[in-house]
Amino acid sequence: MEARIATLPGDGIGAEVLDESVKILQGIAKTYGHTLSFEDGLIGGCAIDATGTALPEHTLEACRGADGVLLGAVGGPRWADPLAEVRPEEGLLELRQALGLYANLRPVRLYEPLLDASPLRPERLSGVDLVVVRELTGGIYFGPRQEAHKNGGTAFDTMVYTAEEVRRVAHVAFGLAQKRRGKVTSVDKANVLASSRLWRCVVSEVAEEYPDVELEHMLVDAAAMHLLRKPADFDVIVTENMFGDILTDEASMLTGSIGMLPSAWLGEGHGGVFEPIHGSAPDIAGQGVSNPMAAILSGAMLLRYSLGLEAEAQAIERAVEAALDEGYRTPDIHVDGSVLVGSEEMGDVIAERIE
Ligand code: IPM
Ligand code: MG
Repeated sequence: MEARIATLPGDGIGAEVLDESVKILQGIAKTYGHTLSFEDGLIGGCAIDATGTALPEHTLEACRGADGVLLGAVGGPRWADPLAEVRPEEGLLELRQALGLYANLRPVRLYEPLLDASPLRPERLSGVDLVVVRELTGGIYFGPRQEAHKNGGTAFDTMVYTAEEVRRVAHVAFGLAQKRRGKVTSVDKANVLASSRLWRCVVSEVAEEYPDVELEHMLVDAAAMHLLRKPADFDVIVTENMFGDILTDEASMLTGSIGMLPSAWLGEGHGGVFEPIHGSAPDIAGQGVSNPMAAILSGAMLLRYSLGLEAEAQAIERAVEAALDEGYRTPDIHVDGSVLVGSEEMGDVIAERIE
């Protein structure tokens, strides 16, 4: 197969983790006889420096024309001034909205060799394998907003949902649950928020179309607790934009490190965008010590969801598992007795393990 992939490294460690992901995809292309081409684009802080905007038109066009997009990370202290006119993060938000990618899949899978790397006790973690489906183009991220510094000391953000926005992401969650263990946990704050009460009604309605899937509703504060108390009970979690942002950072620690979590932004009419859920980590950028596994596993998700190459995606996932099994670790997941490697070496180790 022939496919065009847009690569957007962004800021901080974005470029170094993306390099490793591209290396692995090139290895897959060679092994399986595919032709993948890569085109770089600017996004985030580096795009602001070069063009004045976080998502230049040229980048958006490259993404529209690509079969799939691989993204690194954006942001950093240089662009963190709360009074700044443009922010690197706007690049992500605009890209999500422009491409209509409303469903964010964030699989949280514990690789057994990393049981000792998580801050939680191993007996709580065994069997953790869940996916968070985070709504990505609505809610408080996109509702009406007022900045205080422009308007006399009152600021607000608004959480807005239409029934249709809830319905389409609920379908993604139920469809996914059918292929997994058949359970959806819908997370909201229906005891307080009107948008959550709509969310709960619509999700219950959609559930009727999936009699083989069990639905439970959970309040977001309780979900934050149960993620630590009984994480293996979750299968698919579906939730609104900001709740999903927060819960996935929390859930990442079940796997040992946020450097392990890949993600996919999906919608209709575009192949999707794939990115590690970690940020640009300016504190370690340029040192070559970042964990490229989340970016590499995001590449696997691109093969699976944009290109329909399931066997190839699994080959990457197995290679990551093999590297961990053999004890290779970047500093974020390092424990006594493991083999400490940097980003590039980890990429090489994984590349060599692709059958
Ligand atoms: C994420 C990030 C982004 C988000 C930021 C950088 C805008 O935290 O993808 O989880 O909040 O969506
Ligand atoms: Mg986040």
